[in-house]
Amino acid sequence: MTHWWKLPSNLDIGQLMKVDEVIQAAKLLREGGLVAFPTETVYGLGADATSEQAVVNIFTAKGRPSDNPLIIHIGRKEQLSTWVSQVPEIAQKLLDHFWPGPLTLVLPHRDHIAPSVTAGLPTVAVRMPDHPVALALLQLADVPVAAPSANRSGRPSPTEARHVWSDLTGKIDILLDGGTTGVGVESTVVDVTGSKPVLLRPGGVTLEELEQVAGSVEIDPGLQREGEIPRSPGMKYRHYAPRGEMWLIQGAEEKVHDRIREMVRDAMRIGRKVGVLTTQEHKDKFQADVVIPCGRRSDPRSVAKGLFHALRQFDDEQVDLILSETFPETGIFYSVMNRLRKAADGKVIRV
Ligand code: TXA
Ligand code: MG
Repeated sequence: MTHWWKLPSNLDIGQLMKVDEVIQAAKLLREGGLVAFPTETVYGLGADATSEQAVVNIFTAKGRPSDNPLIIHIGRKEQLSTWVSQVPEIAQKLLDHFWPGPLTLVLPHRDHIAPSVTAGLPTVAVRMPDHPVALALLQLADVPVAAPSANRSGRPSPTEARHVWSDLTGKIDILLDGGTTGVGVESTVVDVTGSKPVLLRPGGVTLEELEQVAGSVEIDPGLQREGEIPRSPGMKYRHYAPRGEMWLIQGAEEKVHDRIREMVRDAMRIGRKVGVLTTQEHKDKFQADVVIPCGRRSDPRSVAKGLFHALRQFDDEQVDLILSETFPETGIFYSVMNRLRKAADGKVIRV
């Protein structure tokens, strides 16, 4: 049975550490249970990263392939050196600047964490999330918490407690409900084991923000080219996938809108249920079965925040075909486009 516990909003970390539900969740984590909790990016499904059995239970609950390693979450920066064997200067610089926050660092580990966390790799991914509930839970539990996004594998990441509930009820022990998450896309994953930082997954911290702190950052070729194997194992899977067939339409704005309208007409004529993923600015330009504006184009962070919820709405509406606008590949839109391409399984029409 899963407990869904709503937490009062506007409490700080100190106050949350005295809330009974948070105390019980932390205790359960230490006993090997599964706890879903909010972070600033998306909800995570947490387990004690030092317990192999608890970690294996995460993979089972999510239906996640076992070759896809997990991120460990810590509640205090000082805990990092307990779990990793080396913190290069560049890693220290990045964590000083971005932690707590949506940045995950890949570092060599000390062999103290359960082997399933790292899928046998010599490195471990670590982050300190910036959410009062997550930090209170992590500080109380006082163990590193392995936590992938709390969705069933392949589904869009959960940005609300009810998304977690619909994917994982009955499979986890506790769902801590801290409301809607703020960033909406997952953390940025950066490998800092080499001479230059390498971006493995774009996320809540943008490439431009990283470069301001780290100087130049390489981009994993697997992120850019078809056929290259990504260094972040999770990036090779189709992900964030809505149930309907999805296409991205890319090009000059007017042409994109014309093409989407044409495709909507053609598909509706043959009886398909069609959805359009757009933005507030353009939502009145389309007449489809379901038109979902995902944030404002003029406010890129709002698009990231609304993205996964929008993808789930198409599922709720049982749409057969989803046609999506696209965004310029800079700032947080770069992360949005990465998720959209995965959701569409790479299907892009250029007009
Ligand atoms: O925002 C987030 O990062 C969320 C919240 C819950 O913290 N978590 C999350 O976890 O997105 P997950 O498991 O969905 O994604 C973890 C990513 C995967 O792409 C995985 O392959 C990569 O991190 N990863 C983990 N360990 C790695 C390692 N040692 N080397 C390279 N990539 C690694
Ligand atoms: Mg995930």
